[in-house]
Amino acid sequence: MTMIRLDKVTKKFGTGAFALSDISLKVEKGEFVFLIGPTGSGKTTIFRLLIRDLLPTGGNIFVSDFDIVKLPHGKIPILRKKVGVVFQDLKLLTDRTIFENIILSCEIANIPKKEAIEKTHEALKRVGIIEHKEKFPVQLSGGELQRAAIARALVLSPEVVLADEPTGNLDLATSWEIVNLLSEINKKGTTIVMATHNTEIVNKMPLRIVGLDKGRIVRDEKKEEKKEDKNKK
Ligand SMILES: Nc1ncnc2c1ncn2[C@@H]1O[C@H](COP(=O)(O)OP(=O)(O)OP(=O)(O)O)[C@@H](O)[C@H]1O
Ligand SMILES: [Mg+2]
Repeated sequence: MTMIRLDKVTKKFGTGAFALSDISLKVEKGEFVFLIGPTGSGKTTIFRLLIRDLLPTGGNIFVSDFDIVKLPHGKIPILRKKVGVVFQDLKLLTDRTIFENIILSCEIANIPKKEAIEKTHEALKRVGIIEHKEKFPVQLSGGELQRAAIARALVLSPEVVLADEPTGNLDLATSWEIVNLLSEINKKGTTIVMATHNTEIVNKMPLRIVGLDKGRIVRDEKKEEKKEDKNKK
């Protein structure tokens, strides 16, 4: 089953800049794909299109069973339940605790209180930061904050997780922990697309790599598992 499909997608911003030119891409259910490319190549723009935060200037986009371009406004919340996003700038609210930040997604989705509390605890345990739930974002390390943002993306059990540069500000060991966590989530069936600049990780993981440059796909390859991968942390 295809989880994400972009058909000849173009995105031109009001400024006249083309962020994406004629992109076609398919991601199957259960895949874990790295989206790479220099800064400004269009990675975040693709994610914003997939959650209907932006509309394309041309082309069609399908996510799960949603036709993104035709999706009525009122159905956007249902789409956002199915697509969890770990934003490049995290977007955690500084005046709320980690627990409050995560349960907020459940509240917006109208999940009953008791179930929302359970789901929030479950997500925090899954990413390994339940002991930090009463802390505020400023009291957490970069790796812990990244885990909190992943917990928020997972709390509504999405079909797809889009992780935008989730290892951006982390040291290599912590970056591996985050990638291994995403990999575990993927093994339980969630489709994952991760935008990254981390070549060390991209080269060591036996995963599909989609490369963007100036808004075009310049590479799409699936790596086979190699023997050297046993060195992987
Ligand atoms: N709201 C906007 N208005 C005008 N131009 C924009 C807007 N958002 C993005 N762009 C432009 O679109 C291009 C793609 O940006 P995008 O954020 O998708 O890149 P990226 O690959 O995520 O980069 P990075 O690796 O730095 O996160 C860039 O040239 C950027 O300047
Ligand atoms: Mg980006």
